[in-house]
Amino acid sequence: MVLDQEVLNQAAEMIRQGDVIALTGAGVSTESGIPDFRSKGGLWERYDPYDYAHIASFRQNPERVWKMLSELRETLDGKRPNGAHKALSRLEKAGLLRGIITQNIDGLHQAAGSQRVVEFHGNGQTLSCLECRTSVPQDDVSELVPPRCNQCDSILKPDVVFFGEEIPSQAIWASEELLRDTRCVLVCGTSAEVFPASQIPEVVKKNGGTVIECNLSPALGNSVVDLRLLGKAGETLPALAQLLGL
Ligand code: APR
Repeated sequence: MVLDQEVLNQAAEMIRQGDVIALTGAGVSTESGIPDFRSKGGLWERYDPYDYAHIASFRQNPERVWKMLSELRETLDGKRPNGAHKALSRLEKAGLLRGIITQNIDGLHQAAGSQRVVEFHGNGQTLSCLECRTSVPQDDVSELVPPRCNQCDSILKPDVVFFGEEIPSQAIWASEELLRDTRCVLVCGTSAEVFPASQIPEVVKKNGGTVIECNLSPALGNSVVDLRLLGKAGETLPALAQLLGL
């Protein structure tokens, strides 16, 4: 897909004015070798999200859910940031990006050097016991699948947000902080199908801000988007950063 130079120039102009944040989804990590959820070959093609990613299903049958979780853990293992993550990190270092609200649990924004990253859907670096609330770092958990709590022997759950669970209040608070005074949001690699993250572009729009979508194909409604950068985020975002002299 050929990048539209005129649209890239317009996007660079909008970003140069500052007070920009990014909202990212699984699409920014596909070029790191991590399939997304809803595209062809995505995780939800093989696992019904209601049976494998809803808190009720985890409580009912944690062994089954851990089959998907251990495959996901293997997929994430050893993956490195790509051009999309690195470009956003350079924008932050240059003071053009105030921070990132990510739906991803892979930690690749931080691995690319991004400092202000809100993990809206948690991350798998820690696990918690739903019975006795014990929290354990991933590295201290035995290889056993499913891993068990060493206090009460219940099955541990990774601290990622399942369907039917609340967004952690710390993530809500940090996102509201970032959204305050945001003039432009760069929405990258998300189908914007999952609430409440999907509301963020509209919040910026309602506050008089602008919305730039960076995706393989349009996901946000025309009434919300001001500019569309169609293409692979791992190519589009570096091109944008280069236009900004980064
Ligand atoms: N560059 C740009 N966009 C891409 C790329 C790429 N290289 N690869 C895929 N995409 C786009 C797809 O076209 C799709 O629109 O990224 C989007 C990924 O959408 P989803 O798979 O729905 O992922 P996401 O939006 O992050 O899902 C949101 O849903 O399943 C839950 O908790 C999970 O955080 C996740 C949430």
